[in-house]
Amino acid sequence: MPHPHYRPRRMRHDEFSRRLMRENTLTTDDLIYPVFVHEPAGRVAVPSMPGVERLSIEELLKVAEEALELGIPVIDLFPVLDASQKSLDASAAWAEDGLAQRAIRALKSRFPELGVMTDVALDPYTTHGQDGIIDDKGYVLNDITVEALVKQSLSHAEAGADIISPSDMMDGRIGAIRRALDADHHLNVRIMAYSAKYASAFYGPFRDAVGSAASLGKADKKTYQMDPANGDEAMREIALDLEEGADMVMVKPGMPYLDLVRRVKETFGVPTFAYQVSGEYAMMKAAFANGWLDERACVLESLLGFKRAGADGVLTYFAPQVARWLRER
Ligand code: PBG
Repeated sequence: MPHPHYRPRRMRHDEFSRRLMRENTLTTDDLIYPVFVHEPAGRVAVPSMPGVERLSIEELLKVAEEALELGIPVIDLFPVLDASQKSLDASAAWAEDGLAQRAIRALKSRFPELGVMTDVALDPYTTHGQDGIIDDKGYVLNDITVEALVKQSLSHAEAGADIISPSDMMDGRIGAIRRALDADHHLNVRIMAYSAKYASAFYGPFRDAVGSAASLGKADKKTYQMDPANGDEAMREIALDLEEGADMVMVKPGMPYLDLVRRVKETFGVPTFAYQVSGEYAMMKAAFANGWLDERACVLESLLGFKRAGADGVLTYFAPQVARWLRER
């Protein structure tokens, strides 16, 4: 039996040489923490997302303080509205004293150094749960929805949001929002575009969390979110959003779409993010609860996978837990 000429195992022999050749690292700087905010006092658990809660603004401030203390750079806000606040034109989305707007102001006045990102889309505000304004057949109309998204973005910027993140997939919205922000002198408000957002089945638990699942019923979002079969189309969407003025782009969902994270990073070389969405969180949590997978090892491995694929950061519901584990190391 001849000796193998190459022995890659040699470098894996000891922890010191494994560390030396390690190509990617996960740090707290890579984390964006999505949180759900609601109107009632206190916290309410989201059953399909064990460990995730809807928070009042008061509770949000506690969570934000901990996030800041853990070194998480950015919190991403998702408001949960009472049914009485929802309408066909989604006008609660740009109310000056709306839930999102009050949450942004509370965060920025208490913790100015914590980045505040906001979701721009109409689904928490519409009676039908679609991300836009619909015609009588239920079709989401593009251009009047973009006008609404512009109003929503401006109201977030005025309240003090640092990053606006349109998650709606309407055509031309990045350009329209950028022009409006510039015209209102919000020159440093960053736009993180959900550029490659798929019509995914992995958003189910999120829709429970924001209460849009019931409104949506059997309807889907396939006329605006992308077909999971497509990759080249995502690249065109990214190119358009960058041309229109996005500072950062996002691929969503995360783990089943890491090929796109790699393609986007290699092709465009721009700040690239991925969203480890609610369904990814829920399925992992279910396996942990059953004792089928080791939570800490699997979560850290999953997030390292995003880094290896080329992501500059990940939106993940695991963010605070991960930050605690990273601190222990
Ligand atoms: C809504 C929005 C969704 C998510 C983020 N923003 C749901 C949807 O498009 O129906 C999903 C996030 C998750 O599943 O964690 N515009």
